[in-house]
Amino acid sequence: MKKIGVLTSGGDAPGMNAALRAITKTAFAQHIECIGFLNGYDGLVENNHVVLKNKSIANIIHRGGTILKTARSKAFLSKEGREKAFQTIQSIGIDAMIVIGGDGTFTGAEIFGNEFDIPMVGLPGTIDNDLFGTDYTIGYDTALNTVIQCVDKIRDTALSHHRLFVVEVMGKDAGFIALRSGIASGAEAVLVPEFENQSDQLVQRLKQERRKDKQSGIVIVAEGDDSGGGSALTALLKEHLPLYDIRLTVLGHIQRGGSPSALDRVLASKLGVRAVNALLENRKGVALGVKGMDVSETPFSKAIKHNKTLKANLVELIAVLGQ
Ligand code: F6P
Repeated sequence: MKKIGVLTSGGDAPGMNAALRAITKTAFAQHIECIGFLNGYDGLVENNHVVLKNKSIANIIHRGGTILKTARSKAFLSKEGREKAFQTIQSIGIDAMIVIGGDGTFTGAEIFGNEFDIPMVGLPGTIDNDLFGTDYTIGYDTALNTVIQCVDKIRDTALSHHRLFVVEVMGKDAGFIALRSGIASGAEAVLVPEFENQSDQLVQRLKQERRKDKQSGIVIVAEGDDSGGGSALTALLKEHLPLYDIRLTVLGHIQRGGSPSALDRVLASKLGVRAVNALLENRKGVALGVKGMDVSETPFSKAIKHNKTLKANLVELIAVLGQ
């Protein structure tokens, strides 16, 4: 193997740069050239690339975002776009690809790898932690830390004003961020897309607690919860709980930025090194991840099936500790 391509795609995640650094360094050690495609799969379609050098990856381990930029490529969704991407691969002489991203990134890798018989290895880079086959995704831990720092601050003002705060966190289909940040920040309740109709129960519970003179608290809701997310939930609570003073904070994209945590840097470094070695061992069509302390491998087709479930013990924990 002489040349590998690498790209970051989908929503950015803190630690993507650390992964790019590890990939490039490992490739260099094996005398493999590293080509970085810009703006996700668009870079492949449009042949928009940079040759990664030592200089390109110096001093990036601590930086959030991605030096290769990212996108959710529309062009790559079509056969025509992927044919152009294949022409790029041929014209540059790329032997294999490493893609860093989430669900959509792995779906693209699975289709493209099969269509044109290109060895593709994926690294889980998303704050959502919703990929099957790995305990953690790169960026999740940093996002959690960002959320709890914010909630700690919100709690100060909530207590001072005797207010109930609804805090909306990211997670269209998955409640991983909501659940773990809820436990870590001592939230009174957490609403996630995985469980239905939680908002009615919450209204009943808060009514009872108000009778016991509870006035302030934190409710964390994932954006994709069936209550409709932060603003719909806040409206519902205001309608049914007139005795509470209720405010909403939508954390939004602040959750995706910032310097990666130690955990994310180590995870990204470990998986970046393994990705190059996996290609050297002729592995293809697999997403890497971690299970306990070990690096895991999952076929793309399995990783993207949306069947990663919330850990039952954590769900129980919030039920007990949120009371
Ligand atoms: O990175 C994943 C994710 O953060 C989701 O949780 C969120 O719904 C989405 O990206 C937001 O994407 P965009 O940046 O396109 O608004």
